[in-house]
Amino acid sequence: MTLPAAASTQKKHAFQLIPLREERLERKLALAFGFMSFIPILIIVGVMVYQLDLGLALYAIAVSAFIGYFLVAKRMVQSVLTVARKASAISSGQSPGRIEVEERNEIGELARAFNRITHDLEQKIEELESSRQLVKKLLSQIGTAIISYEGIDTILTLIVENTVEALEGQMGSLMLVDGEKQELYVKSAWSKNGEVMEAGRRMKLGEGFVGWVGREGRPLRGTGRATELGYADSSGGEGVLLGVPLKLRDHSIGVIVVFRNTPAKAFADDDEVLLSSIGSQMAVAIENYRLNLDMERTYVETIMALALAVEAKDPYSAGHSKRVGFYATQIGEQLGLDHETLGMLHDAGVLHDIGKIGIKDEILLKPTLLTHEEEKVMQQHSLIGEAIVKPVRSLHKVVALIRHHHERYDGTGYPSGLKGEEIPLGSRILSVADTYDAMITDRPYRKRLSVDDAKAELKKCAGVQYDPQIVEAFLRILDAKAQRLGAPHPLSPTLPAR
Ligand SMILES: [Fe+2]
Repeated sequence: MTLPAAASTQKKHAFQLIPLREERLERKLALAFGFMSFIPILIIVGVMVYQLDLGLALYAIAVSAFIGYFLVAKRMVQSVLTVARKASAISSGQSPGRIEVEERNEIGELARAFNRITHDLEQKIEELESSRQLVKKLLSQIGTAIISYEGIDTILTLIVENTVEALEGQMGSLMLVDGEKQELYVKSAWSKNGEVMEAGRRMKLGEGFVGWVGREGRPLRGTGRATELGYADSSGGEGVLLGVPLKLRDHSIGVIVVFRNTPAKAFADDDEVLLSSIGSQMAVAIENYRLNLDMERTYVETIMALALAVEAKDPYSAGHSKRVGFYATQIGEQLGLDHETLGMLHDAGVLHDIGKIGIKDEILLKPTLLTHEEEKVMQQHSLIGEAIVKPVRSLHKVVALIRHHHERYDGTGYPSGLKGEEIPLGSRILSVADTYDAMITDRPYRKRLSVDDAKAELKKCAGVQYDPQIVEAFLRILDAKAQRLGAPHPLSPTLPAR
């Protein structure tokens, strides 16, 4: 009769010699008991019944007990004690390292299980530490965003990036509510795989996953695609979404949403709590930024109005500042300066003489030429102007231009006596624009020059009072526009009524 395979293996196993360290615990105990109790009893019985030699019998008992204790019981107990010590170390929060035991029975299995638990624990601790660092970084970035005025877009994108990382997502975006159009638009976004945003992507409030969060002002978890975040979504795969509203005084100003491309790994309650906390902080940061911006805009508008108020005191200078801003921008364009610098030149032109608000009317409006002392007082206007504009952060690049708009190319100007290219480029441009406009408008103490005479004067003073390259650029503009439009000269201002 042929035995079934399993029975055959079992039978074979029964007669196999197994190394002691691989022996099961129960059999080891039986073995220890055998050596330490059963064999000695048999020997004693042998002595009593068969009159064996007592000395030899005692020697045999000692050997048997020795084998039982040192080769079987002690090793087993030591292995158990090792596992117990390591377990105690884990429970007291220490990292016990790997448990190394020779046993390949239940104790060995227990040791391997402990090793696996320890390894998993260490991994979890590492993950927790990494999450802790990410949250710390996020809080610090949010803190910066709350007090930041410039570079808010970069900070918001960094926050989105770190939020996506902390929530083990692949993409994230921050969308803000456009109240007028009842829409959401993407403010900042970040994607792990470099997925690009759809240009100008907007979503109706109330539509889709993000639209729902924006309108309802409540967090939402669900399944969806990256298009919900405003991405082009080249992969098209479905994943899980977590969105929370950015709320201020019970109304939503935006939504932050994270996409995870593993549909099986849904967002947990902890994830929602973390994102909600980030969302609340971001709402404060964005509101602060908007308030700062409004305050700054109001301040700039006030200063601009102040500049025009200064001009209004003197009918001869009406419109002068705006024209200087216009000429300076034209020169900047001719020199190929960038858009931001052109804006700065315009503002500097409008504000260059704002310091005259601090000059007494009897000097400012004096119909005759000023005395030397009065001239000195009048020269203070560039420093007063600098002091007025300095606190406005958005005009910080204009400050130096105002301070130095009366410097001369040969170094004999004021207030610092700067020479040549030491004078900021914008101030050298303002100097040409300012004096050209002054020359071609009437003043109480002299009549205006013709455009041709003013051009001749600019040429004469190039390299002395003015930067020759700027004079050249300005003359090119005047000539080109005169040729294109014919008389009257296109840059001739409308003369103020007298
Ligand atoms: Fe001036």
